[in-house]
Amino acid sequence: MTPQDFDALTRARRSVRGYRADPVAPEIIEQIFATALWAPSNCNVQPWSVHLVSGDGLRALGQAMITHAKTGSPAPDVPMDTAYRDTYRARQIGSAKALYGAMGITRDDHAGRQAAFTRNLDAFGAPHAAFVYLPEGFGTREAADLGGFVQTLLLAMTAQGLGSCAQGALSLYPEVIRKHLGLPAGPQLMCGISFGYEDTAHPANAAQTDRAALSDILTQHN
Ligand SMILES: Cc1cc2nc3c(=O)[nH]c(=O)nc-3n(C[C@H](O)[C@H](O)[C@H](O)COP(=O)(O)O)c2cc1C
Repeated sequence: MTPQDFDALTRARRSVRGYRADPVAPEIIEQIFATALWAPSNCNVQPWSVHLVSGDGLRALGQAMITHAKTGSPAPDVPMDTAYRDTYRARQIGSAKALYGAMGITRDDHAGRQAAFTRNLDAFGAPHAAFVYLPEGFGTREAADLGGFVQTLLLAMTAQGLGSCAQGALSLYPEVIRKHLGLPAGPQLMCGISFGYEDTAHPANAAQTDRAALSDILTQHN
């Protein structure tokens, strides 16, 4: 693999928010996770575990979360209480504009925005969703390890020709997921990742984000 190949793979990954129903072959799924195992972590503690939900089971879980969300408040294991300001707020707005613009949803179309958000809870109709957990009691440092694991997973999916989307929204109702899958309390749900074959006709998949200039993020010292 050349550096150009890696650059192309990294740039080819983008968030996919509309999927075909056909499942990914079990051997491909296994290969993706076998690759991601090789992500680095502090002291090689590998603080990640994954629950993979597929097919009808995923649709049922999505409906359970959608039903719960109508009356229940979000209660993520890892609080989502950071208010984005200044540059970060501008970038957040930029990504929302890209998505809602592609979907033809205007700024004051609250019902349209709500419906677009709710699609998150059904993993955008993907045939698979991976729920990524951090062990009980682990914090920011180990969450950084999890970020590397998630990106490695996403790139492995891209290399297999799959679409994917990391979704914090899939971590908003962790109790519903624990109950549905019969999981114990303790491990902290960080995010979900929907994946499968992209529905290229879905308007959400026309959204394109940009990135800050290199000079905005890199300071070199001699
Ligand atoms: C940890 C994490 C959580 C995210 N949560 C969501 C989410 O809940 N819903 C969503 O539509 N996109 C979500 N995204 C996707 C981001 O919006 C997306 O990565 C960003 O806008 C850049 O676009 P790109 O992935 O197409 O390059 C998330 C991404 C990450 C890394």
